[in-house]
Amino acid sequence: MAKQLFEWDYASYPGAKTYPHLFSPIEIGNLIVPNRIKYAATEDNLNQHDGFVTDADVEYMRRRAEGVVGGLCFMQGVYMDPARKGQGYVGQAAAWDDKYIPGLKKIADAIHSEKAVAGFQLMDCGRVGAVEVPVGHGPSAVPQRLRIFKPMAEMTNAEVKEMIQQHVDAAKRGAEAGFDVMEISGIVGYLISNFISKYTNRRTDEYGGDIRGRMQAVVEIIQGVKEAVGPDIPVGIRLCSEELLDDVGGNTPEESMESYKISEEAGVDYISCTLGWQESIFPVISRDIPQGNWLYLAKRAKEHVKVPVQMAYRIFLPQFPEEAISKGELDMWEICRSMIADPLMPKKVAEGREEEIRHCVACNLCLARLFRDAPMTCYISPVCAHEHDPAFFPTPVEDEDDKKEVMIVGAGPAGLECAYVAAQRGHDVHVYDKREEIGGTLNEASHAPYGDEELMTCVDFQKTMCEKYGVELHLGTEVTEELIEEEAPDTVILATGPVYKKVPGADENAKNIVNVLDVLSGKGSVGDKVVVWGNRKPGIGVALKLAKEGKKVTIVGEEKSAGFDINPSFKWRYMIYLRQNGVTAYNDCTIDEVGDGGIVVKTFDGHRFPVECDTIIVTEREANESLKSAVQSEGAELYVVGDALVPRNLSSAVHDGYRIGLRI
Ligand SMILES: Cc1cc2nc3c(=O)[nH]c(=O)nc-3n(C[C@H](O)[C@H](O)[C@H](O)COP(=O)(O)O)c2cc1C
Ligand code: SF4
Repeated sequence: MAKQLFEWDYASYPGAKTYPHLFSPIEIGNLIVPNRIKYAATEDNLNQHDGFVTDADVEYMRRRAEGVVGGLCFMQGVYMDPARKGQGYVGQAAAWDDKYIPGLKKIADAIHSEKAVAGFQLMDCGRVGAVEVPVGHGPSAVPQRLRIFKPMAEMTNAEVKEMIQQHVDAAKRGAEAGFDVMEISGIVGYLISNFISKYTNRRTDEYGGDIRGRMQAVVEIIQGVKEAVGPDIPVGIRLCSEELLDDVGGNTPEESMESYKISEEAGVDYISCTLGWQESIFPVISRDIPQGNWLYLAKRAKEHVKVPVQMAYRIFLPQFPEEAISKGELDMWEICRSMIADPLMPKKVAEGREEEIRHCVACNLCLARLFRDAPMTCYISPVCAHEHDPAFFPTPVEDEDDKKEVMIVGAGPAGLECAYVAAQRGHDVHVYDKREEIGGTLNEASHAPYGDEELMTCVDFQKTMCEKYGVELHLGTEVTEELIEEEAPDTVILATGPVYKKVPGADENAKNIVNVLDVLSGKGSVGDKVVVWGNRKPGIGVALKLAKEGKKVTIVGEEKSAGFDINPSFKWRYMIYLRQNGVTAYNDCTIDEVGDGGIVVKTFDGHRFPVECDTIIVTEREANESLKSAVQSEGAELYVVGDALVPRNLSSAVHDGYRIGLRI
């Protein structure tokens, strides 16, 4: 008889009417989960380097547990070997000894405190492991393709058996710590997937060979874990539905589906459908992949197994899983990055507050940080990974005398972020912008190709929050020294955006010099042979847009590598698109001369060469000094945020704005 751990009644939740399938119960093994929502396991590098759980991680998890409104909430995958070959992240939690149980229990308790179902994940990182030791382990010693990962040693038969036992023992510890569901992570190139793939498993013993042989270790783990935790704790597995490793001889989709069926036969209670490896040459979750793109794989999985199928992967909006579940093509909505960015995302869906969701922009900074041994950070969410620190949350200004008249100049992401936070705390906040619309330069930047329109979700969220907290907008109003004098604010925040640099050696008013914003908005006229001045993200975005329109584009920029300001986990996509679209980039270079029909480029070591062009597009920016002295002479408190301070990116704008909003 299946049992439900916590009572949930969604009758009063407006979202449950809009998304009835998402808020209907499901049986997973002998457990009833009250809805179809799951926070998928997420490393955060917040734990101690020796594997002990920290308060930071507990509070991170508590917030996500609140977000799933009664659904499944998984902690990060734990590593299970004392030799630490399976450890893929410096701050990954461990479970190779009973000494870890009390820390793990704190996470289970935190999840239960929000009446959510606590999930425990077993994750030996295999090829992606050995972060703190020189050599990793795997079924075979297949060399790494990505230089960031350690060399591999082949496991002996005895070591494979030991590894299986480590999974079983760790599962027992997870159960003792109070977790309700067990999950084996076989995704993206971790040890389980290494065993299953014919790319990385070349063994000749009983743990290699055809797909059945390559699944043998997985079958023994599933059976061992099930026996260890008993019938009340469901056991699931995350498995690749497509490895996307054809170029190196990975599994066929048929073999992957076979691995699903074998797992089901071995007794799993659900399967989480995943795809791609770290080593795949195809993108899977970056912003250039449309949302909902991969749901057909869940549908296919359901044609092969009877146990519930769960899936994440660029499913950021509830309508996708709602529809898929209603059609019988999916059973549960897994969420990872959308709940890194906004831990309460599904709760807001349930409460009919979708416009208050801070959407993930699929930039993969969170991942890039983990692979550089840094604690989790979110590009768009300043609170992420600081849930344990009250200093990161807005606190009301208690004393009436401390409440300030705040003038914010600029309704871009930095200004709006600062505005709602300051207003939430009780200040009287007025935002001015000479434009008639909010969003600042993001209005234009979001016209760059490969998914950048999703960046505007940041402004949509900020607009809602400004309305909620009573920020007053003064659009179409240029702030002058006189206006500052007239309004006499206590505090002025300059969020005026950057100033665009002048092209060296060029006539400022030359018709063939066009600002990037005019190009992106379609206002500027551009010839067929274009030089883009600046090799950061704005330069790359506009270069790709024009190249896709058929123009011959050359980038000239001072940074040593193009796109140095883009997260490495996403930058590789842009580099491929530049190549595919025939864009040439001269890095570590500047424009030395501008003449009729072209420019002269100067390299960092003084070489000069001509590049033909009929248009130069300016993307190089610098800090905006305007209004600073006016504010200072009025004696108001002054802050500068976002690109006006130092031209950077959307993330810096949001983080600057948020922090100053907390400080005023
Ligand atoms: C920062 C980060 C950490 C992750 N850690 C884990 C993990 O510990 N175990 C796991 O099975 N998957 C892990 N994943 C994969 C996610 O659970 C999820 O499958 C993937 O991000 C796709 O879903 P999304 O598009 O909702 O982000 C991680 C993903 C990210 C971005
Ligand atoms: S860092 Fe980027 S990809 Fe990761 S959750 Fe935040 S917005 Fe999404």
